[in-house]
Amino acid sequence: MLKPLLVLALLASSPGSGAGLGAGSQLREIAAGLGVDSPPAPPATVGKPTSSPWSREAQLRGLPRLADPDATVRFVVLGDIEPGRFWFTRAFPPKKNAFERQLAALQREEPAFVLQLGDTVSRGTDANFAELEEKLERVAYRPFFPVVGNHDRPRTHGHSDKSLFNGMFGDGDFHFDLGGCRFILMDNSNWELTSAQLAWLERALDTPRRKIVAMHIPPSYLRGRFAKPKREPKEASLKVKESVGWFTEGAIELAALMTRYRVDRVYFGHLHTLAYADYGGVRYVISGGGGSPLYRAPGIPGTKTSHYIVVEAGPAGITERIETMRGKSLTFLKP
Ligand SMILES: [Fe+2]
Repeated sequence: MLKPLLVLALLASSPGSGAGLGAGSQLREIAAGLGVDSPPAPPATVGKPTSSPWSREAQLRGLPRLADPDATVRFVVLGDIEPGRFWFTRAFPPKKNAFERQLAALQREEPAFVLQLGDTVSRGTDANFAELEEKLERVAYRPFFPVVGNHDRPRTHGHSDKSLFNGMFGDGDFHFDLGGCRFILMDNSNWELTSAQLAWLERALDTPRRKIVAMHIPPSYLRGRFAKPKREPKEASLKVKESVGWFTEGAIELAALMTRYRVDRVYFGHLHTLAYADYGGVRYVISGGGGSPLYRAPGIPGTKTSHYIVVEAGPAGITERIETMRGKSLTFLKP
């Protein structure tokens, strides 16, 4: 078993550098004003328009119209759903149809939308995205907002083309407002946040609303801090070094922005686990068990369980209830 685990660790690694935001960034900037109470009419300012029924424009039109800006927003966070690229990864639990089962189960929560944390497919190919679309259509839960993961690209390591994912869902970083919250979804699938992205992020954070940020790969400054639900996250000195499964470029700057703007939650996937950390007054969560194989490898913290998180964000704060595929409800300790 050791060799496959080492291979898995290597597959999860490989820092990259030098991604750009592309020409859509100015349009996305306008998205800062996306309607809370009236989701925008197409063409939405959230990247290049796409005709896919799963495009951001289409999802935004499906958001509930919350007239009260103090309305509590209930949404579901769902982690990695890729089924496993190799036979030895697919051999780990939860095995078949876990994503579809969880997507069907979470509908009873009647969330405003599903926030999916990347790795929708095991590798970005036409066949895999066709299969994903077929699964999504079968369960048909909308709105569904994924961030792009490294596996959503043809090359799962380093830099890679993202046109298939972008064509189905939309490209780059974007944000939208709902109730009293701003949701900011970012692309760090190249293992970095560029200076242009960080500048965009700072502008997006400049709002009195509650702020919820999501991206696929967790930052290396949180390595060693994550805990299982009900355990206290660890305190440690701020160390940033490249390591398997974590991103480094732009990580320190991300930490400063999250703290300065008092971000309410930051969600990551990538590591197929469930864990949380507090750093600089900010609560961070890794939720990578949306249905993907729960393999064990050195450096992956937390509880290996397939789950989704029901989040309620309102004037009183944020609550999270974790529903595991085994029927357990869990919570994190309060920040
Ligand atoms: Fe990933």
